[in-house]
Amino acid sequence: QKLELELESIEKGGYPHFMLKEIFEQPRSILDSMRGRLVAENTQLTMSSIREYANRFKNAERIIIVACGTSWHAGLVAEYMIEELARIPVEVEYASEFRYRNPIIREGDIVIAISQSGETADTLAALELAKSKGALIFGVCNVVGSSIARATDAGAYTHAGPEIGVASTKAFTAQVTVLTLISMMLAEMRGTIEASALRQLMMEMEQIPSKVEKALELDAEVQVISEIFKDATNFIYLGRGFNFPVALEGALKLKEISYIHAEGYPAAEMKHGPIALIDENMPVVVIATKDSSYEKVVSNIQEVRARKGRVIAIVTEGDTVIPQMAEFVIEVPSTHEALVPLISVIPLQLLSYHIAVLRGCNVDQPRNLAKSVTVE
Ligand code: G6P
Repeated sequence: QKLELELESIEKGGYPHFMLKEIFEQPRSILDSMRGRLVAENTQLTMSSIREYANRFKNAERIIIVACGTSWHAGLVAEYMIEELARIPVEVEYASEFRYRNPIIREGDIVIAISQSGETADTLAALELAKSKGALIFGVCNVVGSSIARATDAGAYTHAGPEIGVASTKAFTAQVTVLTLISMMLAEMRGTIEASALRQLMMEMEQIPSKVEKALELDAEVQVISEIFKDATNFIYLGRGFNFPVALEGALKLKEISYIHAEGYPAAEMKHGPIALIDENMPVVVIATKDSSYEKVVSNIQEVRARKGRVIAIVTEGDTVIPQMAEFVIEVPSTHEALVPLISVIPLQLLSYHIAVLRGCNVDQPRNLAKSVTVE
């Protein structure tokens, strides 16, 4: 028993929980997921599995992404990215819905299955179905040799390393990293991006690990905010564009480990319902980084303030406007709009972690949840 406990504490590398260790590993796991695949200096992108099926990808009429949970959120980020950069229509599907609704799958379609464990039953069944209809199946998995990795025609592993905490953190950013590289490659192959813009994006991507490192320095600040909101019974998370999936992911993290009810919404959808929930007790986390929807998000913050909601805003360093409106402001390093999720998700992971710890929850093994769901 004592030996087991000691072993566990060694495995946690000095951190009190696996989740915190894994959050702090992200600069490394992101780097590992792009190592050997991206060299910005000579605009070089290498992913043999994509090159091998270059023609299929170049002529793809549609990409269908199937996944569950956090991996589904990474898929949503990829949808925004692939459509923006490579101009291929993308649909993101919950694997469990896709497999049972007689979906339309054509031979020219490419299905990307995203899974940390590579064992999720619904995702596996969804890809088997798509395979039987002749689509090309591409996997983005973390666990080498897993069932999904083996069932795909080709794939690219995320190199997040083992993820023990049930709530996924470093696997998410590793998935987004690999999907970003795929989007860039598709854009390059299809000629939908200018060489200079691609180079710029690649250079920004190389900076991501150090910017994530910087975002992790927000830990103490986030902890203070967590103490203020730890007894809340509800949370709303808002974001637009690339930050919409981040809002969903932030809300999911909070639900999973702190058992606080949380809803993620595209900021503009708030007026179609969730706004009715806002009063002086409602914490509203708004991801409001400087991007193309910034002005619109600023007005969404004003709408929340007008109803006395308590705004916690994630903003870009140096923002002078939002600090005058929001009750709490968390500043993250700036980057290319398409890469923001890799940075804006960090304080949200930390927020859910600290709130869960303060509430005395079992962070690494939350009730009713499993790390990998191998049954329906
Ligand atoms: C479970 C886990 C989640 C994970 C989801 C999908 O619900 O608790 O953290 O996001 O499964 O898992 P996968 O291994 O397919 O990414």
